[in-house]
Formats: sequence, structure tokens, C-alpha cells
Amino acid sequence: MRKVQLTETVLRDANQSLIATRLPYDKFESILETINKAGFYSAEVWGGATFDVCLRYLQEDPWERLRKIRAKMPDTKLQMLLRGQNILGYKHYPDDVVRKFVAHSIKNGIDIIRIFDALNDVRNLEVAIDETVKNGGHASGTICYTTSPVHTHETFVGMVKDLKSMGAASICIKDMAGIMGPQEAYNLVAAIKDAEPEMPVVIHTHSTTGLAFMTYLKCVEAGADVLDCAISPMSGGTSQPATETMAFALRDMGYQVDLDDKALVTMADFFKGVRADFLKDGVLDPISMATDTQCLNYQIPGGMLSNLISQLKQMNAIDRLDEALAETPKVRKDLGYPPLVTPTSQMVGSQAVQNVLAGERYKVVGKEIKAYCRGEYGRTPAPIDPEIQKKIVGNAPIVEGRFADSLEPGFEAAKAELGATATCDEDVLSYIAFPQVATAFFKDREAGFPKKEAPKTEKKTESAAPAVGSTFNYVVNVNGNQYAVTGVVGDAAAAAPAAVPAAAPAAAPAAGETAVKSPMPGSVAKVLCSAGQAVNAGDVLVVLEAMKMEIEVSAPCAGTVKSVAASAGAAVATDDLLVTIG
Ligand code: CO
Repeated sequence: MRKVQLTETVLRDANQSLIATRLPYDKFESILETINKAGFYSAEVWGGATFDVCLRYLQEDPWERLRKIRAKMPDTKLQMLLRGQNILGYKHYPDDVVRKFVAHSIKNGIDIIRIFDALNDVRNLEVAIDETVKNGGHASGTICYTTSPVHTHETFVGMVKDLKSMGAASICIKDMAGIMGPQEAYNLVAAIKDAEPEMPVVIHTHSTTGLAFMTYLKCVEAGADVLDCAISPMSGGTSQPATETMAFALRDMGYQVDLDDKALVTMADFFKGVRADFLKDGVLDPISMATDTQCLNYQIPGGMLSNLISQLKQMNAIDRLDEALAETPKVRKDLGYPPLVTPTSQMVGSQAVQNVLAGERYKVVGKEIKAYCRGEYGRTPAPIDPEIQKKIVGNAPIVEGRFADSLEPGFEAAKAELGATATCDEDVLSYIAFPQVATAFFKDREAGFPKKEAPKTEKKTESAAPAVGSTFNYVVNVNGNQYAVTGVVGDAAAAAPAAVPAAAPAAAPAAGETAVKSPMPGSVAKVLCSAGQAVNAGDVLVVLEAMKMEIEVSAPCAGTVKSVAASAGAAVATDDLLVTIG
């Protein structure tokens, strides 16, 4: 009887996908011993957004959280998610920082590090894999699953071979958007197993589109060894398929599943309570637990669709959604078919919107796309269209090698910068990963974590921080027809700030004036205009930081800036007034 194992994601991906990673340690401590005894292949408990959210909202030191979990779970392998050279963020860090981060993750209790790169550029995984192996950890080399003419099973198998030679002890197929169909999954796993029969294959997907259970079964038939699941009350929708259901189905089909069913019942009872609490306070939106097939229609992740809609809404151009949706695959092709995962999904989506609204393709280009075209994100799956690259970066030099090779070592400099504020190397790493957030955290820690006033009830789906899995609802007019559109927030949303007092209430603009409002909750990164200044349509007025991306808010029309309500650093909610143009 062939054995199939499960990874339990409730403390990381399910937590992140359904409740914006808001589960504090104290709330799950009492169930850890049960999870520890349940017999999972591993428990995914750290990395992804957990680190940021601990520092930003939960007043928890993420390192201490990890050590406490380790102490309660000595028998189960603890797993984390790492973005290769980006560690837990979206920029490339120098190698010494990546190595320190990996070494300290293992030192503090991690066994398995799942390492991926948004472009599937294995050079961005090499250092993290190497350091994991050196520290006695298990490096799970990860393929971001996507479809394109250049993403053939051959290229994926080639990637598996590269990752194996780098030291990966298993391969994870990561289907971020839940768009991998059962037969496609079967064929891909079979191709990998054909080439590397001994290499354990782990499958990660989300239930968003409803394919997940079917896809998992076909993966197992093709030889997959481990499946990512979440205990039932925290499963489904934007989370993973249910652990107990999967175990039942696998046993029904004759596979061996060594899970303790009693422990699963105890876990399910416990997390029913957690779910009820988060439903009650509105952080968990029931819609995010339901099936949404829109990703299948558009072939783009849900989080990306909501981004597109939100940007068009900002520009008063939601009637051009059809054009933007048609432009999206063209931009992706121009840029060499990047997998659509954060941050490339936001980058491609924003560019598609700019191309449609500017009336000329690549007339307006965001700074991330410029860096991407200079090779700073890594090697693209296919070459970037040379003419478009030339148009975007001109004669700027293109990074040929690994971008991190051009970065100065960063750990000692950050340590010196922090001085006595840092009590240990882990503090320095928190600071490097999230400088402002960590600085605020250290201050709070110094002050003994003064009770922060609880944020007022968030205006759900409007001004609330977009909890991962939460939805955006709009009625869209396309060619005279009305469509109800729902987008589901994807993986990156945990970085969105919690509801905080809005910078300025949106007042009705006077006649002849245009109010430029915040398209989404976030914070004001930069104000690029001042009262009295003449602006042209498309000029960037304010840069927001939302979902870890810089979002440029542009003038919808030409005119003179009457007043500027936005101020750098201020938190803004959807529809808060930023600038008035007269
Ligand atoms: Co995931």
C-alpha cells in the first residue's frame, strides 16, 4: 500500500488566506500538542506573511513565536515559506543576509524551507538552498506553476534537475491561483517522476476555483508524495482542501495515510471556535470560503483581478475592464511570460491598465516594470520583447548575471545601524526585512507593549484592510451590460495596514473640481504634487503603498491642484480624498 502524507497549513497558509494571518500565538498555543501528535508530514507554521504580521499587528516577535511552536511540537517537522533571494519581501537581498536568515530560521526551529522565486529563476534559489542544506535543513525546491508557450513540462522537469543539483531534497509544485486542472497535474507530476523517480513531490494549491481535491487525487495517482491541506474549519475557498476529507478519500482509494483521526477531530473542534471568532469580528469573510471560478475564465489569479478592477475604478475607467483583461496576456507575453504571482501579477496588471488608459502601449511605465526590464528580478522565462525593453529602459545596462551579485553585504551594516536597539541577530534580520515595522516593534517592546487602542470596526470590503481571501465587489458596465464582479485578495494582502483613522474624509468636490481618491486602503508613500501646481492627465500625484506595492495615483484630467489632503506616512482608506484638481 503506497503511503501519502499531508502537510497541515492551518497556522500559515490557511491563516494567511482566510484571516490575513491574524491568528495570535496565544490563540492557538493550546492545540499545538495535538497537531504535534497527529502524524503530519510537516506543519507549515512560519514565513510568508506571518513574519510581517507578527511584527506589524500582533506585537509578537516572530522568532520567539517560532521557538515557542518548536518547544510545543518536538515531533513534527516545522515548515516555512521563503521567497529565495527576496527572503520574505519583494526586493533582492544580498547573499550574506539570505544566508543569515536561513541559518537563523533553522536555528530557531525550522526543519523544512520551501523556497520559490516569482520568475522561477533558479539562480535566485541557489543561495537559500545551499544554506539550508549546510545547516542540516530540508530544502524544498519550488516551481511556481503557470501556463505559457515556454512553460512546458520539459522546462519544469529541467528546473527539477537544476534544483536537485543545488541540493533540494524535495520538489514542490506551487499552484498559487488554483488553476492547475487534474489531468494537467497528472501529466506534470508523471513527467517529473519519470525523470526523477526518487525525488519526493509535494503539491500545493488553493481551493479557490474548486479544482483542488480533483487535482490532488490525480497528482497522487501520478506519484505525488505529499499534499498541502488545512484542517476542515479553516479549509476551502482561498485556503487549502480539508485535511480530513483528503485523508478519507485517499484511504478509500487504497492509500496509506498515517494520521491520527482522533487528533484531527480535536483539531477540527478547536478551529471551529477560531473560525467562529473571526467570522464574528468580520476578519473572516464567508465569501472567501466559497468557490469562485472567475480565475478559470480569466486565467489570472483572483488577487490580480481585484487589483485591475481597483485601478480602473481609481481612474474612473471601470468600463474599460474588458480591454484591460484583453491587454493583460499581451503584457505578460511582452515581458517574457512571468508566472503571475506576487509581485509579478501586480506589475503585469498595472501595466495592462496603463497601456489601455494611456492610449499608447508602454507610454507610462511603473518603476517595478523598469527594474524588471533591467533584469533586476532575474531571468525571465522567455526573453522580453526587445523593442519594448528598449522603449522602457532605453540604453540603461541590463543585468546579465544574478542581481544579488551586484549588492553589497548588508547584515553588518544593518547591525551597526541598529546599535543597542538590537538584542540579537534575529532583531537585525527583522529590521532588514521590514525596517519601519521592526523599528516600531522594537519601540513598543521597549515600552512593554502598551495596549494599543483596538481599531474601530473596519468598514468591511470598503476601507478594511483587504484580508487575504476577502473580496472586492463591484458592478461593472461593459459595453452597456452590467456584471457583478468579485475579486478575491491574494497572498500579499497580509501586508496591508489595519484599519486606522483615515487621513481625510472624502468631501464632495465643488463644481468644476475633481476629487482624486484613494483606490484602496494603504498608506501614503509620497506626495508628488502641491497646491497651485498645473498637472496633465496621467501625471502621478501621490504614491501609495498597498499590498507591498507602490501604487501610483495619477491625475484623471488636466488642471491645477487646488488642495492636497494626502500627507506622507498617513494611512488611507478606500475613497479617502487625496488631491483636488480644479
Ligand atoms: Co499558497
